Amino acid sequence: MIVKLDKVTKTYKNGVKALDELSYEVREGEIFGLLGPNGSGKTTSINCLLSLLNYDSGSIEIFGEPMTPERYDIKAKIGVVPQNIAVFNELTVYENIDYFCGLYVKDKEKRKQLVNEAIDFVSLNNYTNFYPKKLSGGLLRRLNIACGISHKPKLIILDEPTVAVDPQTRNKILEGIVKLNELGATIIYTSHYMEEVEKICDYIVILDKGKVISHGTKEKLKNSITLGETIEVKLLTNKDNLLEKVKNIPNVLECTLHDDLLVVRSGKGETNIPNILRILSEENIKYGTIYSSQPTLNDVFLEITGKKLRD
Ligand SMILES: Nc1ncnc2c1ncn2[C@@H]1O[C@H](COP(=O)(O)OP(=O)(O)O)[C@@H](O)[C@H]1O
Ligand SMILES: [Mg+2]
Repeated sequence: MIVKLDKVTKTYKNGVKALDELSYEVREGEIFGLLGPNGSGKTTSINCLLSLLNYDSGSIEIFGEPMTPERYDIKAKIGVVPQNIAVFNELTVYENIDYFCGLYVKDKEKRKQLVNEAIDFVSLNNYTNFYPKKLSGGLLRRLNIACGISHKPKLIILDEPTVAVDPQTRNKILEGIVKLNELGATIIYTSHYMEEVEKICDYIVILDKGKVISHGTKEKLKNSITLGETIEVKLLTNKDNLLEKVKNIPNVLECTLHDDLLVVRSGKGETNIPNILRILSEENIKYGTIYSSQPTLNDVFLEITGKKLRD
């Protein structure tokens, strides 16, 4: 186990209990996703595991050893990309990366090589002499990442690295994270974007109010809920009794009709498309597109908590 949190509780001075007996484990080599809405405790849990914050109770181990603020040897093997961009405005892109790398790598030649590799990795080659103030949001995010990973840490923690970046940079960042993992790093990735977590994470912990509400692979999480298939049919004509008939199809959990869009949610099992088509044909209702989808992590969150992941 690379990281182990055991029943960690953290209360801030204002009385907010940000972590409530939170436990999770990160295995070597995986991309571990911490998914939860804003305020669910993702950043607090990262700061506790790095010993940047003290906590009320519980225990934290990293690389199999108890983590304390003095364990610089452990910290040297961790790369952190914080949620809030943390770079020096008075240093250039190159100097910033060199500074952070220099915290861990003293040899100048070795460091030069690592800094250049990090610049290549985030494609900041054309900006090495720029100061942070001259960089766009997406480029700043990339600089923030380069500063956290240049020393080639075994464990890389990225806290919402794609907030407020354009879709192209977002995809580049996600590809970069997968590449870092393929090169051997274990990754902890926090996000409130379920699409990203679904895309890149091997194992997912879903947080709400400082607690784990569910965990597992994305397949396991989706299989753990009642909802199976969602079918959407664009209707061109309609009949009053349609909803009643569709609701009577076995295994249908919920059926709604808004703006000519019929939405049918069914439990796990065989598809209900043939049953719906049969009813539409019996009732002589014309239709356009039909779309079938499987549960998302948002459905998982919704079914367990009764609220949406992003409010
Ligand atoms: N420094 C702080 N002082 C008091 N409350 C805080 C502080 N930082 C975070 N919180 C509160 O703790 C809870 C968890 O916050 P946080 O860990 O930042 O969540 P997330 O990273 O998932 O958005 C929230 O209710 C937040 O308002
Ligand atoms: Mg956060």
